[in-house]
Amino acid sequence: MLTNILFSMHKMAEEAPMKTFSFEEVKEHNKAGGCWLVIHDNVYDVTKFLDEHPGGEEVLLEQAGGDATENFEDVGHSSDARTLMKDYLIGELKEEDKRDNLPTKLPNYDKDAKDKDNGSSCVLQ
Ligand code: HEM
Repeated sequence: MLTNILFSMHKMAEEAPMKTFSFEEVKEHNKAGGCWLVIHDNVYDVTKFLDEHPGGEEVLLEQAGGDATENFEDVGHSSDARTLMKDYLIGELKEEDKRDNLPTKLPNYDKDAKDKDNGSSCVLQ
């Protein structure tokens, strides 16, 4: 009985939807005291990882509160690094703020700027 309850709780935890954040919320965590990064539309809280990052804290802080996808991929991180990331995953971007889906695929694509000019400067090729 207890085993059954524990099992279903475990399953519920596994299937729980990821927490979602707007890019505005991510932007607020832009310092050593609270450092979030977006990588492939996932949100990572790397505050506690700053000291441990083999590439140093500086590179992470430069991207704090922003989209670090391109920089992360440019380094060619190992599969160990990709496994380690999961420890810092706190959620994903809200659907409307997801960037991997954007046609331009620009990592630091400024959605607000696009909103201001109705996207007329976004040229698809
Ligand atoms: C949660 C996010 C991240 C994790 C878990 C992580 C983890 C790691 C690990 C384990 C390494 C050692 C080499 C390897 O195994 O690939 C590493 C190296 C490095 N990382 Fe990251 N990293 C993260 C994000 C980033 C970001 C966003 C940048 C750039 C802005 C970055 C830049 C670097 C650099 C420059 C190195 C050194 C590469 C070298 O010495 O060859 N990392 N990282």
